[in-house]
Amino acid sequence: MVQKLLRGRVLNFVAEPQWPEDVASFQYLEDGAILISDGRIIAMGAHADVVAKAQGAEVVDHRPHLLMPGFIDMHLHFPQVQVIASWGSQLLDWLNNYTFPAELGFADANYAARMAAAFCDQLTGHGTTTAMAFCSVHETSAEAFFAEAARRDMCMIGGKTMMDRNAPEGLMDSAQEGYDATKRLIAKWHGQGRARYAITPRFAITSTPEQLEMSGALVAEHPDCFVQTHLSENKAEIAFTKELYPEARDYLDVYQRAGLVTDKLFLGHAIHLEPREIDALAETGAHPVFCPTSNLFLGSGLFDQAGLKARGIQSGIATDIGAGTSYSMLQTLNEGYKVLQLQGQALHPYQAFHWITRGNAQTLGMADEIGTLEVGSAADVVVLDARATSAMALRMEAAETLAEELFVLMMMGDDRAVAQTYVAGAAQKAQGLAA
Ligand code: GUN
Ligand code: ZN
Repeated sequence: MVQKLLRGRVLNFVAEPQWPEDVASFQYLEDGAILISDGRIIAMGAHADVVAKAQGAEVVDHRPHLLMPGFIDMHLHFPQVQVIASWGSQLLDWLNNYTFPAELGFADANYAARMAAAFCDQLTGHGTTTAMAFCSVHETSAEAFFAEAARRDMCMIGGKTMMDRNAPEGLMDSAQEGYDATKRLIAKWHGQGRARYAITPRFAITSTPEQLEMSGALVAEHPDCFVQTHLSENKAEIAFTKELYPEARDYLDVYQRAGLVTDKLFLGHAIHLEPREIDALAETGAHPVFCPTSNLFLGSGLFDQAGLKARGIQSGIATDIGAGTSYSMLQTLNEGYKVLQLQGQALHPYQAFHWITRGNAQTLGMADEIGTLEVGSAADVVVLDARATSAMALRMEAAETLAEELFVLMMMGDDRAVAQTYVAGAAQKAQGLAA
């Protein structure tokens, strides 16, 4: 097996930064290297040490760029690649007017396959190597998603959305059909190569109590699968949910009664939470997911990261394409920083870059596989250029520290700052070309 040695400035988080300047939370090597064999990291450290272990390795010199673990996007919608930037409405109208019509197209296997390739190109072009995605209600869309990820050996998590009410004909299954199709997809894809399955009831509004119950049965039968849905994104959504589920104590209780709430559950948005819901999140270990570009775009509200963290709740961070407005986790941090600023909360660049790498990996329980550059991890690596645009280069002339460089990347960077992305050791971006 031919080895590959990536040389550059290496940044790898080993713990969550506990305060802004917590330099014990990461390793930083000015002249570092990553040695890759068979898609895995077999050595990482100072270049002089790593090169001594290499045997006939192909060398890729990325100096002066920064090598980091590939980014992880904890919540987005694969069938919404052509919904991004749809004007003028908040959640429920946006779903009815733009999103549901677009998702209907994913019944067509050829269209779904073309979109799956485009979707993966966009992710890796922006430095993202793992994502947890909603597919459409159609089994074809999940097939296309997993097949494309497998072709690229990407660690992708996804699931066929289940929805059996309050959606157009052609975009609904039944409780039984959703259960059966999910079973087939889990059997075929979960744990196959790098794929993982997420049981995916879209949200309370589009599922009957029967469908949520059957989702709960799937969770009980497949405790190693992830679960993804939405929670308390928008006030009209919450009011409608309470009408549909009058017996529930609150929105989260709808999912609790169905047996969905465990530490494998990822809840997009979770903005307008009641005290009991926060208690339940803390008790169960379920993960809210902060989607800043989406929350601003749809006018949904401000995610209370500090409040949740103070309760020991581990949140993910994500783009939420297509209500999110960028595939870039750097731009997600940019908007996230501003959302937290509005609440008097500060997101330090060390905390920010930890969050989109090791932090998100930890919420998945997968930090031994993705999100770090530790020996034994998959060789999913992003190469970042903080001087990618003239404005960034100008700003970087006055930057003196690593923290400043990281802050420039997260405030000004996007896919142009991603010089290369490696998935299981394979370069994904054509050199010198945007993806
Ligand atoms: N809630 C239910 N479905 C969706 C979706 O597709 N996007 C967002 N932002 N919220 C949702
Ligand atoms: Zn979503």
